[in-house]
Amino acid sequence: MTEMRMKVNGSVESLDVEPWVSLLDALRDRLGVTGPKKGCDQGACGACTVLVDGMRINACLALAVQYDGREITTIEGVAHPLQEAFVRHDGFQCGYCTPGQICSAIGMLAEYEAGMPSAVTESPGLDEAEIRERMSGNLCRCGAYNGIVDAIMDVTGR
Ligand code: FES
Ligand code: FES
Repeated sequence: MTEMRMKVNGSVESLDVEPWVSLLDALRDRLGVTGPKKGCDQGACGACTVLVDGMRINACLALAVQYDGREITTIEGVAHPLQEAFVRHDGFQCGYCTPGQICSAIGMLAEYEAGMPSAVTESPGLDEAEIRERMSGNLCRCGAYNGIVDAIMDVTGR
């Protein structure tokens, strides 16, 4: 067991974890923070996306012990215009992917503002194609992609 501390949604949490426990399992099973979802547990769906010091990561691919002393934000700690925009634009159906979509979109907007390029697009602006590329790590089995993109474009004023 390794003793560690994280700030989760503004609260300092102490926990003992085995070195193989993922950040996702530590949040969900040890701390009861169930906003991040376990869709695939192998980095393919984005349902587990959380923000670490403002950067988006897949919590299922991260070992909890790597994040000792870091600040984690899950959907429970988010208060962002994107949330209302998702409602306005029907950016979800079942809602399973939504916590990850919103955390990912917040991280994506920060990456864009910081000048980080996307993997394949060359567009200098954050147009629809660029948003779809930058959000391509978040799958939605309900196919609410159009609403998700519209919600993101709404908050960016596009
Ligand atoms: S549960 Fe982490 S990417 Fe699917
Ligand atoms: S809203 Fe159902 S998986 Fe996205």
